[in-house]
Amino acid sequence: MKDADDRSLRLAGMSVIVVENAAEVCRLAADHVEAAIRSALAACGRAVLGLATGATPEAVYGRLADRHEAGALSFRDVTTYNLDEYYPISPIDPRSYRSYMHRHLFGRVDLAPDRAHVLDGTVPEGFAAEHAAEFDRWIQADGGLDFQLLGIGRNGHIGFNEPTDLPVAESLRLPTRLVELHPVTRADAVREFGSIEAVIPRALTMGVGTILSARSILSLATGPRKAEAVAAALTGPMTSAVPASLLQSAADRVIWIIDEPAAGLLPGG
Ligand code: PGA
Repeated sequence: MKDADDRSLRLAGMSVIVVENAAEVCRLAADHVEAAIRSALAACGRAVLGLATGATPEAVYGRLADRHEAGALSFRDVTTYNLDEYYPISPIDPRSYRSYMHRHLFGRVDLAPDRAHVLDGTVPEGFAAEHAAEFDRWIQADGGLDFQLLGIGRNGHIGFNEPTDLPVAESLRLPTRLVELHPVTRADAVREFGSIEAVIPRALTMGVGTILSARSILSLATGPRKAEAVAAALTGPMTSAVPASLLQSAADRVIWIIDEPAAGLLPGG
């Protein structure tokens, strides 16, 4: 439900909802995820969700799990594909995104374990490209993503699609693959790893092309540290230097929910 004091904007053809604070972002985002599940279930009896990790979605998963525990929401007919995973990393390493998902969602809901897909940080390096391609094929075989949840990095990344100087047309087609993390991403990962030396410098990430193929995309941002990336993504040109700006190419399928501090550099912000 949208409150009377929420602001709705349309920027680069995308819907942008600005709410007061991070808690409101998560409350509204949980409503959107639940609505996406229900509408996919109503249309075809199952829902295929793309999920994100990081600090921002933690409270979204908390709310969804609470709703499940209250008997109000089932994941029985849901399939999930996560955006990314460090490489190499064991799934039982508490810093892995597989562990994160267990803690925040998978361990608390009735999602079938064999339908909760996270890229595998243990594949041998020579097999990583094939594993990534297989991930994209599985998504396609499941009928494509009904919904993709996204955060945005301080450098404008989505998943671990980092800033590059690639031509836009090339970035728009990027598949799931093994990547090097950008220095800003590594600096932000110190929160999880304790020191810059300990940060795992590579990752498997869903590609920009895979993300953009989702039938609806919900992008979340909170806090003043995201304001610059949010403004670049929403009001700047489409450029590979700001991967989130590439969402403009799917504008009519994208909703942003952001808080006032993250909207600080937007028109009227
Ligand atoms: P955060 O990360 O939610 O931890 O800020 C978002 C992202 O980097 O995609």
